[in-house]
Amino acid sequence: MPDSSKHLLLVGDEGPLRQAVAEQLTDRGFTVEQAESGEAALARLAEFAFNIIVTDLRLPGIDGSAVVEAAVGRYPDIIAIVVTGYGTVKDAVEAIKRGASDFVNKPFQIDELLHALDSAIEQRRLKSENAYLRAQLQERYRFEGVVGKGRAMSRVFQLLETVAPTNSTILITGETGTGKEVVARAIHHNSPRRMFRFVALNCTAIPETLLEAELFGHVRGAFTGAVGNRQGRLEQAHKGTLFLDEVGTMSTALQTKLLRVLQEREFERVGDSHTTKVDVRIIAATNGDLARMVAEGHFREDLFYRLNVIPVELPPLRERKEDIPLLVQHFLDKFRGEAASARTSDVAPVFRPAITVSQDAMRRLMAYSWPGNVRQLENAIERAVAISAGRSQIDVTDLPVEIQQAQEPALPSTVSLPEDGLDLDAFIAHVERELIERSLERTGGNKGRAAKLLNLKRTTLVEKLKRFGKSSA
Ligand SMILES: Nc1ncnc2c1ncn2[C@@H]1O[C@H](COP(=O)(O)OP(=O)(O)OP(=O)(O)O)[C@@H](O)[C@H]1O
Ligand SMILES: [Mg+2]
Repeated sequence: MPDSSKHLLLVGDEGPLRQAVAEQLTDRGFTVEQAESGEAALARLAEFAFNIIVTDLRLPGIDGSAVVEAAVGRYPDIIAIVVTGYGTVKDAVEAIKRGASDFVNKPFQIDELLHALDSAIEQRRLKSENAYLRAQLQERYRFEGVVGKGRAMSRVFQLLETVAPTNSTILITGETGTGKEVVARAIHHNSPRRMFRFVALNCTAIPETLLEAELFGHVRGAFTGAVGNRQGRLEQAHKGTLFLDEVGTMSTALQTKLLRVLQEREFERVGDSHTTKVDVRIIAATNGDLARMVAEGHFREDLFYRLNVIPVELPPLRERKEDIPLLVQHFLDKFRGEAASARTSDVAPVFRPAITVSQDAMRRLMAYSWPGNVRQLENAIERAVAISAGRSQIDVTDLPVEIQQAQEPALPSTVSLPEDGLDLDAFIAHVERELIERSLERTGGNKGRAAKLLNLKRTTLVEKLKRFGKSSA
């Protein structure tokens, strides 16, 4: 079976020479395609994700440097080697600046090229191993970084503790930015599968036509551009967890195939007649209303039930405002660390001056409705830390303008208009009385401090209390 990490595009305008090199590379286990010009190379690159490109530097139209730049731009992990016929180091250096890994001078022995390829592949392997380890560390950090302690999140944590160790399929729902992906990772890292991979696939990020191959993989010749066998995300997640993000956007055809995976844990790569078995745990997420999509006929009902074995609903931030101070602290720690290390050298131990948030700023943060949820809060704090540039306190003016303008309204998000309407004056009077009573409760009956909590003069509060006394007398 050809090695799917050795798809090589060979570019050169001298046909016989190119053909000879192609044959030698094929003998060494590479899957080689040829292009006779820069233009042809770009066209092939647009269709297929090669792992390696070997190109002549001088080409009649678009030259080798430009091909390298386009290839690296499209596939940042591609290995690019340029072949220079002129021995001019300057051109080669230029190509390396544009992203080439190495160069060989013409005429060359095939071994020179193989050597350059081997060391580039080895370097790339080390780099991606590092990146993977780093990503894993970050993931672990992020698990500990799932912040929340209020009632709503405690309930979520409790549920997660129970279900994480199992193999059950989980459906996470919640508005954008509520932490669906963080929670999915947390589940994985709290499961016996943590030693294997957490593979995420965002169903909206990949064009519909490519999604199936991305998920299931493909075999050589399955479609134009499928020059070799390729593993899909499902296989990459073998023994680990597959996170299917935005699952509601999947086409009905793909839904049917996914259903089979959930039922049988088996599938076929695109173009393959052979059935592959996998052992994966599936966590799906959506910010849409899948139940409604089922009712409207856009989502398979049987798939919905298969996915929704354990529903985890993440509450919007406005419904768990008690978590805001904790989240603010969490993000302050995160970003002041980053800001400090950007200002000092990498090697020196980072001095992290404490940053606080002024009372007034915190009041606005609590008052705001956060349509973008935790993500929006995270962005606001990152921005504030940057703007405050070393000051020890974040103030109202460091916040985005819409948050500066947030009023402290009477529990606006929990107020809804009853079907048959209401008496506005009576309702407001009721809310007013409720809040005054709560402020007195909180301050142990201290009218001065209760008035302050409500931004009222003490005398006004006393006035109101008298009025209540009269009406209830
Ligand atoms: N409970 C939390 N504690 C700490 N950080 C959180 C929490 N929830 C979300 N975040 C942070 O907020 C950002 C958004 O979270 P995430 O990507 O998981 O949201 P999402 O629900 O998947 O959003 P979308 O639907 O837009 O994809 C991330 O940077 C994440 O680290
Ligand atoms: Mg997400």
